[in-house]
Amino acid sequence: MIINKRLKEVGRLVDDNSSFLDIGCDHAFLDIYLAQDKKRKFKKIVASDNKEGPLTQAKNNINQHKLSKEIELRLGDGLDTYTDDIDTVIISGMGGRNMIGIIKNHLEYLKTIDTFILSPNNYQVDVKEYLTKVGYYIEDEVLIKDSKFIYQIIKFKKGRKKYSKKELFFGPVLLTKKDDNFMHYYKRELKSREIIMELLPKGFSFRKVKLKKEMKLIKSEINN
Ligand SMILES: C[S@@+](CC[C@H](N)C(=O)[O-])C[C@H]1O[C@@H](n2cnc3c(N)ncnc32)[C@H](O)[C@@H]1O
Repeated sequence: MIINKRLKEVGRLVDDNSSFLDIGCDHAFLDIYLAQDKKRKFKKIVASDNKEGPLTQAKNNINQHKLSKEIELRLGDGLDTYTDDIDTVIISGMGGRNMIGIIKNHLEYLKTIDTFILSPNNYQVDVKEYLTKVGYYIEDEVLIKDSKFIYQIIKFKKGRKKYSKKELFFGPVLLTKKDDNFMHYYKRELKSREIIMELLPKGFSFRKVKLKKEMKLIKSEINN
């Protein structure tokens, strides 16, 4: 199975010997790719989606690759498809607020979830703030360029660490790497905030203050 660079990187972050649930699996490309990798070993692979269409497509793909014994499919909303034999939850390719909602709906499952691998399309800071508030720390973070977009992937492990506002904004691990993708990503983030500032009509003072603070923070980091 050939998958895109973003999903490959999500897969790289999954621990060997883990039992994982891929929420919002869509075509189950990630799960098929990991199940086919002879160098990797997982105790359990579960792929779930809240819509019949993607799940039917996932089932066809899994059958086509003769992996129906290796990958279990579940239909349901978010963590409704979770069972306590799973230690790792992957959610990628959806909005950050949707991810937070999925986790908030089932806080009782956090007892048995050791690892979250999340790749939110937006509201990444909110996701980091929320996960660190409910008892996870950031073990690893990646910025991956795939075609013209740069995606964030964050691996959370159970445990507590204190982070400054700056660390949560940029990502504590990304800040220590500060690679080319980091510079590229935050230059774009700065540009998009400058455009929003210009387009915002009179009023919106709370939003403007927040944007100004973020722009100052980004400038100080990328010019450093
Ligand atoms: C854009 S696809 C992402 C697919 C894949 N995870 C990836 O990263 O490429 C988003 C998928 O999430 C599913 N989805 C959205 N909200 C969901 C929820 N609350 N519970 C389960 N699946 C959900 C959608 O049906 C869709 O198949």
